[in-house]
Parts: sequence; C-alpha cells; structure tokens
Amino acid sequence: MLQYLLIKRFSGLLRWYRSRLTIDMQHLSRYIPKEGRMLDVGCGVGSVDYEFARSRPDLHIHGIDIAAKSIELANRYNRLPNTRYTCQPLESVAGRYDCVLFMDVFHHVAPANRDSLLQAASRLLNPQGYVLIKDIERRRGGASWMLDRYVSRCSADEIFLENCSDLADLVAKHLTVLASEVRFRMPFPHYYIKATAKTLSKE
Ligand SMILES: C[S@@+](CC[C@H](N)C(=O)[O-])C[C@H]1O[C@@H](n2cnc3c(N)ncnc32)[C@H](O)[C@@H]1O
Repeated sequence: MLQYLLIKRFSGLLRWYRSRLTIDMQHLSRYIPKEGRMLDVGCGVGSVDYEFARSRPDLHIHGIDIAAKSIELANRYNRLPNTRYTCQPLESVAGRYDCVLFMDVFHHVAPANRDSLLQAASRLLNPQGYVLIKDIERRRGGASWMLDRYVSRCSADEIFLENCSDLADLVAKHLTVLASEVRFRMPFPHYYIKATAKTLSKE
C-alpha cells in the first residue's frame, strides 16, 4: 500500500493529506465526541485519529484494525498519550465506548459481514453512546473507487460502495438511526450515519 511507503518519511504530510484533502474534517468533527472514549474500527495507520486526539486531549481513542502492518505503523508514527492501537477484530473488543466510529470502512466490508459488525458495535456502546459511520456515497463516488482500485490496489470485487439510504436501512435493522446525510466535498460525496443502540430508544 502506498501509505505504508510514505508514512515512514512523510507521516505529517500523510496526516494532512488524509484529514484535510480526502475527508471533510470540519463537518466530521461535529459528530465526534469532545471527551470520553471512542473506538475507531478500521483505523488504518491512525492518521485521522492523531488529528482528533491532538485537538481533543480529553478524548481517548482506541483504534483497531485487522491489518497488522497498519497497526504497527499507527503505533510507531501516530501515537499520542490519548491514543492506543491494537490489531484485533471488533468482535474481540471488550469495554464500553461513547462512540464507535467506522470511517471509510464499510465500503471494504462484504455485505454478508455487515450485520455482525453492526451487532458487535451495538454491544460496545455506553448508554448514551452512538455508532458513527462515515463513508463514500456510491452515486458520484467514482473518484474513491478509482483510488481504491488503482492506488490501494484493491480488486474490483473488494470495493462495495453503497448509497447512504441503503446503508441506513441496514443500520436500522440493528440500531436506531438518529441522523443520516450526504454532503459533497471535493472530491468525494461523503455520507454520515449516526445511530444508537435500540434499547436506548425504548427507555
Ligand atoms: C480505507 S481504510 C480507512 C482507514 C481509516 N479509517 C482512515 O479513514 O484513514 C479501511 C480500513 O478498514 C480496515 N478494515 C476492513 N475491514 C475491517 C474489519 N472488519 N475490522 C477492522 N478493520 C477493517 C482495513 O484494514 C483498512 O485499514
């Protein structure tokens, strides 16, 4: 992966590229808690977590990923006192979190595996906690597809871009959807889905 090569010499530049050019950091930040505990599922090399952790010292971020190399690099280059990164599947995480974040992860998760991820995320929420999914809308999402296909070298059958409304329908099977929206910011149409555990809404 290109970022594995770049991070060793240009970790600051990679953080800037990821958090300023490829996501809408300003808008995304409105969904991220100011304090408490956040689990970032599929944190990659931790470039964005570093930025969140730097600007929110009272937010403790636990980043997990199934790619061991990404976690090794996250620990080496994107560590702060309020971050920790571990290589493990979501199903093995214990504890409770105020936010469980999936950032640009769901379009790498095969449809057959999505229900179990959402159920596992739901079990980890504090009473007031929420799941936040940020991803790329399939409609007009061609630039993201091209990056995944030709820069990250994913094969075509490993990229599963969805429309926000379709993913929100799936999320609603397991959680209570509080908000869903699509916002285009060059070069990608980003969508955001915020949802709480179903039991919370029944109380
Ligand atoms: C496009 S990268 C996004 C990385 C990071 N969230 C970011 O926004 O910079 C997708 C990441 O999701 C990870 N991933 C995919 N499926 C996963 C799963 N089931 N559990 C944890 N991580 C997963 C991949 O290893 C990869 O690091």
